[in-house]
Formats: sequence, structure tokens, C-alpha cells
Amino acid sequence: MNVMVTGGAGYIGSVLSRQLLKQGHVVTVYDNLSRGFRESVAPQARFVQGDILDRGYLADTLRAHKIDSVVHMAGLIAVGESVREPAYYYQQNVTGGLSLLDAMNDAGVKRILFSSTAAVYGEPQRVPIEETDEKNPTNPYGETKWTFEKALRWYGEAFGLHTACLRYFNAAGAADDAGERHEPETHLIPLILRAALGVAPAITVFGDDFPTRDGTCVRDYIHVLDLAHAHILALEALARGEKALVYNLGCGGEGYTVKEVIEVTKRVTGKDVPVVMGPRRAGDSAVLVAGSEKIKRELGWKPQRQDLGQIVESAWTFMRKHQFKTP
Ligand code: UFG
Repeated sequence: MNVMVTGGAGYIGSVLSRQLLKQGHVVTVYDNLSRGFRESVAPQARFVQGDILDRGYLADTLRAHKIDSVVHMAGLIAVGESVREPAYYYQQNVTGGLSLLDAMNDAGVKRILFSSTAAVYGEPQRVPIEETDEKNPTNPYGETKWTFEKALRWYGEAFGLHTACLRYFNAAGAADDAGERHEPETHLIPLILRAALGVAPAITVFGDDFPTRDGTCVRDYIHVLDLAHAHILALEALARGEKALVYNLGCGGEGYTVKEVIEVTKRVTGKDVPVVMGPRRAGDSAVLVAGSEKIKRELGWKPQRQDLGQIVESAWTFMRKHQFKTP
């Protein structure tokens, strides 16, 4: 496959690009570097610095490199920021996505896989969450992802696109040579690891009055390499002619509370992590745990690294080796 990864300088895109390259595919990363890092781009990938709002440049890039499949990962991903700056989220996640679909139409590219999110469900009616469950986002981040999913469906029908939406639960962990790096960092595991390393003062727990087993939010953490593998399976399915795929991606089970993640991280790092209790963060759902039976059944996906200790260990190794360069 000849794949363009928008947002390929970001966390998940940098891991996916390397996995695609290892399997012999050709990868073009298209990224404006507003949130990603040039040095995160896979060394063997072609890099094009561009904005997804630039339809003309996108179409030129798609044509010039004879792209047959697009993985659309470029976008804004921070729940709290989205509540404060909804217009920015609509512009990047919705208008940017539509610009990409228009460019694909201009260039005759028919296959697209979209990075969606568990945040489309909002506060779920039941857990584990199934793909057909009600979508009721509790923040502009989830709302803009859901809006684009709906647009993708109608564009797909009108223009004969082959589409896949993968709704990620909480991506975590790292590959040997690529991993999570956000500035500023807002995600739980890298923030706890920073506190463990001493480069951040403490971890603040956002609320301990949720209706969960210890009062803190429950999330479903999935290793980024398992996530990447699901993308490759979905891209192969689109190449076989599948049309409108939608899958949840998580490990299921009981999930982990924020307090449990902190305990696992302390054990893995052998460090004491200073913890501060704080108020709830706007837009957070109490429990998000995936039902991922559909992708297991239909594409044969199976997560290989479900143990949270193993996930945190890989993130810890990556952070010390590549990000903060500490022993
Ligand atoms: N949390 C804290 N303290 C922090 C950071 C996070 O207590 O300093 C809590 C959050 O309140 C939440 C949990 O840790 O309960 C996880 O928070 P993250 O910010 O790491 O991730 P989210 O659960 O907010 O994930 C959401 C979507 C995902 C999406 C992700 C992208 O649900 O689908 O944002 O940023 F991929």
C-alpha cells in the first residue's frame, strides 16, 4: 500500500508509520508540526510539511505520491482544551477533515481510515461500550470527532469511498523507537512518569467523587503497538473492498482507575510519585471501557500486550531513553 498518514509526526502516527514501513508499505507523512515533532517522523517515511486545511496542497501531495490509502490522524486531542477553545476544535477536526475529503475527491483517492475516539460516546449507558451504543459526547473534542465520523459516512456513500473509523480508548505505551510526546502533556500515564522522574512536581488526580470503585475515573488503556496492528488490519480490509468499517479499540475488562494507574506506575518505576487530589476536569466521563469484540470477530485482531504494567514499562523506557535522556 501507498499510505499517507496525516498527523504522522504525532504519537500514534509515528508508531503506525514505522509498523507500516516494517511490513513493506510506502509511507508519506503529512503534518504541519503544530503538535507533532519532525524528529518523531519515521526515518524511512517521506515527510511533507503541510496543513490539512490546505486542500490544494493536499490534493497535489496525494497525486504526486500516488497515494492509495489515507490514515487521518491529524487533529486536536485534548479534552480540557476543547472545552475552553471549541472553535479551534471545530476548525481543525471538522473543517480540516472535510478539506481532506475534498482533496481526496480531487485526487481520486478512495480509501480512508479515521482516528476516532471513545469520547464520541460521552457518558455511556452501559459498559463495555458497543459500537452501536448512543453517541452523546460530553466535550467538543468528542463532538468534533463524531461530527466528522458522520460526514465520512455521507461522503463515503456519495463518492464511493472505502472508510474505516477506529474509536480508540486510551492509547498508551511505546515502541522501542517511537512513543508518546506531547507539549504540553495532558495525558495521565506520561504525567505520572514525569512526576516519577522528577521533571514534574506531582500528579493531580482530577476528581475522586465519581461513581466508580475508588471514586476516580476508569479508563481502558491499550498498547499503541496493538492499536497500530489494528490499523494495518483495517487498511488491508479496505484494500479488499470493505466499505464502512467502525470499530472500538480497547482491551475491555474492568479498566483501571486513576488511582490504580498511579499504583502500577509506582511499582514499575520503583519511584514514589507525589499525588495531589484536585477537582474534576471539565468534560470527563466517569467510565470508558471498550467492547472490542467486533474487530476481533471481523478482522481477527487480538491485543498482545494487555497488562498495564507492561504498557507503563514500555512508556517508561521510551521516556528515559528518548525524551528526557536520563538513566
Ligand atoms: N487525569 C488525571 N490527572 C491528570 C491527567 C489525567 O487525573 O493530570 C485523569 C483524567 O481525568 C482521566 C484519566 O486520567 O480520568 C485519563 O485522562 P487522559 O487525559 O490521559 O485521557 P482521556 O481519558 O481524557 O482520553 C481522551 C479520550 C481518548 C483520547 C484522548 C486523547 O477519551 O479517546 O482523550 O487525548 F484518545
